[in-house]
Amino acid sequence: MSKEHAEVGAARTGSIEPEGLDLPMRDANNADVGASRERLRRKRLRGLAVVLGAPTAFLWWRILSGDPINFFQLPSIDPLILVPSLFFVLLAVVLLGQFAFTGRSPHVTYRPEQIETRLADVKGIDAVKEDVVRSLNLFLAHKTFASEMGGTPRRGLLFEGAPGTGKTYLAKAMANEAGVPFLFVSGTSFQSMFYGATAKKIRSYFKALRKAARQEGGAIGFIEEIDAIAMARGGLSTTAMPGVARATHGMSTLNCGGLTGLPAGYAHAAGSITHPTTMSEGVGGVVNELLVQMQSFDEPTGMQKVQSKMVDRLNLYLPPHRQLRRPQPPSTNVLLIAATNRADNLDPALLRPGRFDRRLTFELPAKAGRRTLIDHFLATKAHVPELDDDERRDALAGVTQGYTPVMIEHLFDEALVNAVRRGVKAMCWADVEKARLVEEVGMGQPVAYTDHEKRLIATHEAGHATVAWLVAPERRLEVLTIIKRREALGMLAHGDRDDVYTRSRAEMTALIQIAMGGQCAEEIFFGDVSTGPGGDLLYATNVAAEMIGSCGMVDTLVSYAAIQNSAFSDTNIVGRVLTDAEGRARVEELLQKQKVVVAGLLESNQHLVAALRDALIDRHELIGSEITDILTTAQLAGPGPDVIDLRHNLSARPLDPPV
Ligand SMILES: Nc1ncnc2c1ncn2[C@@H]1O[C@H](COP(=O)(O)OP(=O)(O)OP(=O)(O)O)[C@@H](O)[C@H]1O
Ligand SMILES: [Mg+2]
Repeated sequence: MSKEHAEVGAARTGSIEPEGLDLPMRDANNADVGASRERLRRKRLRGLAVVLGAPTAFLWWRILSGDPINFFQLPSIDPLILVPSLFFVLLAVVLLGQFAFTGRSPHVTYRPEQIETRLADVKGIDAVKEDVVRSLNLFLAHKTFASEMGGTPRRGLLFEGAPGTGKTYLAKAMANEAGVPFLFVSGTSFQSMFYGATAKKIRSYFKALRKAARQEGGAIGFIEEIDAIAMARGGLSTTAMPGVARATHGMSTLNCGGLTGLPAGYAHAAGSITHPTTMSEGVGGVVNELLVQMQSFDEPTGMQKVQSKMVDRLNLYLPPHRQLRRPQPPSTNVLLIAATNRADNLDPALLRPGRFDRRLTFELPAKAGRRTLIDHFLATKAHVPELDDDERRDALAGVTQGYTPVMIEHLFDEALVNAVRRGVKAMCWADVEKARLVEEVGMGQPVAYTDHEKRLIATHEAGHATVAWLVAPERRLEVLTIIKRREALGMLAHGDRDDVYTRSRAEMTALIQIAMGGQCAEEIFFGDVSTGPGGDLLYATNVAAEMIGSCGMVDTLVSYAAIQNSAFSDTNIVGRVLTDAEGRARVEELLQKQKVVVAGLLESNQHLVAALRDALIDRHELIGSEITDILTTAQLAGPGPDVIDLRHNLSARPLDPPV
C-alpha cells in the first residue's frame, strides 16, 4: 500500500508526527473513526432521551394528577413461598451460569486513556513502526479508503518475532494512538476443558470485538501467543508459506570451553526442523472457528437478522417488482493483531490475504536501534554522568549485539541492582559491565579446584584465547575466566566487533580453530587430553557440518538441507551430514586438518599461552583489554626464559567469583 493511498483525504484530517518517523500519523479524532464515534455518541444520547423520557413523563403525570407512585409500598409475600423460590432461583442460576460462563470471551478491554504507551515510546524498530503507522492510517480512514477508493481495509496484522522484541508493546501503543478500545486476549485463555467451549469463546471474543467497534467507530483486538490456538491442522504443510521468518537470533558472543552452540544465524541457517503437526479433530475445529470468525466482521447484528427475517416473510406476499430490500450489514472497523514467536507453525489458511493480510517481523534491533533504546532507557534510569558519554553508549550498543529491547531494559535494571549493592543510587559503567557478564555468561560460583585442575583449565582457556587472538583479530575477546559459571569450568567469551549477517569461509574456519585451541594446548603442555574439550568438539563439529552440508564451503556443493524429513527421520542439518558416510568423513577430515594447523600455531606460540595461563591462575578472570594487553606484552617479550614454569605446586583454594 503506497503512502499516497494511505493519505487520501488528508486535507480533512489533521496529523501528528510520531517521533523518529517520516510518515505522519492521522489524528484519530479527525479521521473516519472519530467521526463515526461522534455520530454514534449523538445517536446514543437521542436513544437515552427517548428511553428516559416516556417513564419520566408518566411519573410526572401521576404526580400532577395527585396520584404519585409509592415505590416503598411493595406487595407483601409469604416467606414460606419466598425462601424456597429464592433457593430454586439460585440453584438454577448456579447450574445455568456454569454453562453460560464457559463460553464467555476471556478478553480484557482497555480504554485508550488506560494505556500509557505511545508510539513515540517504541524505539529502535523503525521499519516495523512505519508499516504499523500505515496500517493505522488505513484503519482510521477506513471509510475513505473503502468507499472512495474501493480498497479493502487491512483487517489483520500478524506480529512475529523473538520474545521481548516489543510486539505487545507496539500493539498497545497502536490502540492508544487510534483512540479505540483495545481487546486483549491471550491464546491460551481460549482453551477450555469442555468440548466445544473453546470455539464458543472464540465466537464470543469476535462478537465482543464487533460490538465494541460498532459502539466506538472502531476497535483493535490483540491475541497474544496465537500459536496456542492456531497451529497448522493435520495435513497442511506450513512450509507452503514462504518467507515466514524464524526467530534464530541469539547472543553474538561465542563461548569456548564449556558453553557451546552455533554462532548467531547458524543455529537454523540450514532449514528449520519441521515437526509434522497433527491435531485432534477438536483442536482442528478451533482453527476452523478462527478462520470463520476472521471473516465475520461484516456480519449483520441481531436486530438486522430479525429485520431481514421479517422482510423475507413479507416478500413472500409481494410481487417481484414490489420486493423489499434487506437491511445492509454495516462494515465493522476492526483491526485484529495477533502475536507469536512461531509464525512458521501457524495454519497457512490464517496467513492468506483477507485474514492476516500483513505479517510484520520484529527483528532484533541493529546497532543504531540499540543505541536509540539505550538512550531511551537511560533517560529514566539513574546513572552517573560517565554513562552520558556518547562513546560509552556507542560501545555499549556495539557489545549488546543479539539483545532484544527487553534484554537491554533488563540489563540496566540489573546494573541498578549492582549499584544498590554498592550502596549508591546511580549505576556506573562497571555496574553495567558486571550485569552484562552475568547476563551473558552466568553468575560465578566458588569452587575449589585442585592445583592440577586449575593449571589444566587455565592452559585450556589460554589456548582458546591465544588462537583467537592469532587467527581472528577481528573478534572481540571479552572474558577469559577459570571461574565456574553454569556448567563451564572456565571459558573464553568472544564476539563480533560489529553486527554481522554473513561469515566467510576463513571466519568459519577460524571459529573451528578457536574451538580446537583448548585441546591442542592441553596436549602440548600436559601431553594428554581431558574431558574438558567435549563441548568444544561439539561446537566445532556443528560449524564444520554447516560449512560442508549447507554452505558449500568444503569440497562439495551439495546442500544437505534439500533432504526432506520423513516420519522416521527428523534431523537437523548437522544430523543429516553426520548420518551420511561421505559427509561424516568430510567433517572428520576438516576437523583433523584444522587441529594440525592449531597445534602448529600453539607450538610456536607457547609463550603466549603460558603468559595467559599464569595471569589466569593469578587473577582468575581477565576482561577485554586485559587479555589482549597480556598477549601483546608476551609477544613483544618473545619466547624465552621469561616464560614462567608453573610446574611447582600451588595450594588449592576456592576461586572467588568477582560478581
Ligand atoms: N521497541 C521498544 N521500545 C521500547 N521498549 C520496548 C521495545 N520493545 C520492548 N520494549 C520493552 O520490553 C517490554 C516487553 O516487550 P513486549 O511485551 O512487547 O515483548 P513481546 O515481543 O510481546 O514478547 P513475547 O513474544 O514474549 O510476548 C515492554 O514492556 C517494554 O518495556
Ligand atoms: Mg507479547
